[in-house]
Amino acid sequence: MNELKKQIKKIEEDCSKELKKARSLQSLESVRIAYLGRSGALTDLMTQLKTLSLEQKRTLGPLLNKLKNQLHDAYESRKKAIEKKATSPAALFDVTAYKPNQLHGSLHIYTQIIEQLSSIFMSMGYVIADGPEMETEYYNFTTLNIPEDHPARDSHDTFWLSLPDRLLRTHTSSVQAHTMENSTPPLAIFAPGRCYRNEATDASHDFMFTQGEGLFVAENVSMAHLLATAQTFLQHFFGKSDLEIRVRPGYFPFVEPGVEIDGSCPFCMKGCSICKHTGWIELLGAGLVHPNVLRANGIDPEHYSGFAFGFGIERLAMIKYGVNDIRLFHSASIPFLQQFA
Ligand code: PHE
Repeated sequence: MNELKKQIKKIEEDCSKELKKARSLQSLESVRIAYLGRSGALTDLMTQLKTLSLEQKRTLGPLLNKLKNQLHDAYESRKKAIEKKATSPAALFDVTAYKPNQLHGSLHIYTQIIEQLSSIFMSMGYVIADGPEMETEYYNFTTLNIPEDHPARDSHDTFWLSLPDRLLRTHTSSVQAHTMENSTPPLAIFAPGRCYRNEATDASHDFMFTQGEGLFVAENVSMAHLLATAQTFLQHFFGKSDLEIRVRPGYFPFVEPGVEIDGSCPFCMKGCSICKHTGWIELLGAGLVHPNVLRANGIDPEHYSGFAFGFGIERLAMIKYGVNDIRLFHSASIPFLQQFA
């Protein structure tokens, strides 16, 4: 009899402890089966009770029944608690959850380079300018001293649109006229933006690319200003304070004289595969703004002069970062873009 009482006490203690420990409905169910189930510890005691004397049954029966109800209630309230916790916001939102190897967004290399270039020119007092990518013949050619029958138009491989007198700009020089017609000198603008040329693509040519255009118009602007500006800009962009420039004659109808500006190779200074073993890399087209261009935009060439320069933004980025195919820039290739993240 005492033995049974001890067992009742033990079951009470053990079962209460295990119910409290159960953290999930699954583990709670195992506790229920172990104690209250058909072959559980409590049921087992009930069976034993049947073999006892009437007197013993009278004492132990109510004890067992009480225990049964008590454990049942404890089980039910534990079950409710677990269910409530499982649907609480705290259970659904795990602040410690960690998912490795997630892809992170970052600024596109275009954006990064344009920001670098813009900040260099802004530090020299330039204003960032913009113009439409869909242009008229007037802004892309005519006002830039390229009349209708001029052979230079052919070399631009223009994408003509089916709208009358509309084309995709072939260079950012078209921003020059938009700027000049809306302001009076002195003016200094840097215009980065997309350009289009209807030509076959290869590792260094694409039908869509970006150019940066610089224009400075004021009194007494000379070639010396152009060369100093070009050298300062290239030194900053490549992070080489000893970068030198050299100038070769070049032809662009909207500048006179026109020049091509090369930079000393920022990598070797002597000759490597990037500069094709010459020590120099062709970087900018430039020159003094042609008097016809100033005149066409209402600026008196007797009073003002200016310089302009233009360059391929991808080309500069390819040299700076060792990119070997211009088409990668708008390929949306994740491995390519991740290198600039
Ligand atoms: N627009 C010229 C080109 O696309 C570059 C250039 C700009 C040359 C300004 C001279 C002055 O090649």
